Amino acid sequence: MTYIERYTRWQRFIHAAVALLMVLLILSGLALFHPALFFLSDLFGGGTWNRILHPWLGVVLVVGFALVFVRFVPDNLWRREDSQWLRQIPDVLAKRDDKLPAIGRYNAGVKIIFWGMTVFILLLLVSGIALWDTYFASAFSIEVRRIAAVVHAVVAWLAILFLIVHVYAAIWVRGTMQGMTQGRVTAGWARKHHRKWFDELLTKETK
Ligand code: HEM
Repeated sequence: MTYIERYTRWQRFIHAAVALLMVLLILSGLALFHPALFFLSDLFGGGTWNRILHPWLGVVLVVGFALVFVRFVPDNLWRREDSQWLRQIPDVLAKRDDKLPAIGRYNAGVKIIFWGMTVFILLLLVSGIALWDTYFASAFSIEVRRIAAVVHAVVAWLAILFLIVHVYAAIWVRGTMQGMTQGRVTAGWARKHHRKWFDELLTKETK
């Protein structure tokens, strides 16, 4: 079988770090969200540690995601074929791949998740700073902090939803997960799902 490199070791490491941080943020965030979920704070050493760690994990996530963003932004710019791919969503869901336009390294679904996550992480950062009493208690009015609390909670739920879709899609398209766990995909996978990317790689190879 012929394989193609999709992610380098460093890209996989930084992606895994961001994924782990996101899971830890969700768990510690849910512990703060509702008393019924407070038991989750036991994972972080109790309520006080949970409250201390959550914002710092957020800061590290922002740094990690910034590294992911810089590397992947060129591949996530919107192209004409992406709009066409979106219009053909019934074909995507029915796995009628032969009917879909040839697309580059990422499809429109991945790009929407990418830009969505970018906006959500920025909003979580800004609203999170307004809620970080330890350092910014006197920097924001009570009204601003109330708005920040609502924004932080709503956006966190949206981010959780996008994460579930992201993971589900990666499992749903067989062979995708291998790209992130082993760094390589089969040539057949690349040709079937990302023909434009595959053709570009071939052109580079034959030059
Ligand atoms: C928690 C479990 C996660 C799993 C199992 C997972 C799985 C994957 C897989 C399999 C790919 C490769 C897709 C492809 O090559 O077409 C991928 C790409 C990617 N993932 Fe994740 N991921 C997770 C979490 C996250 C999180 C939390 C973020 C960011 C907040 C993220 C951001 C990305 C980005 C930016 C890419 C590159 C594709 C793009 O530019 O959108 N992932 N992920």
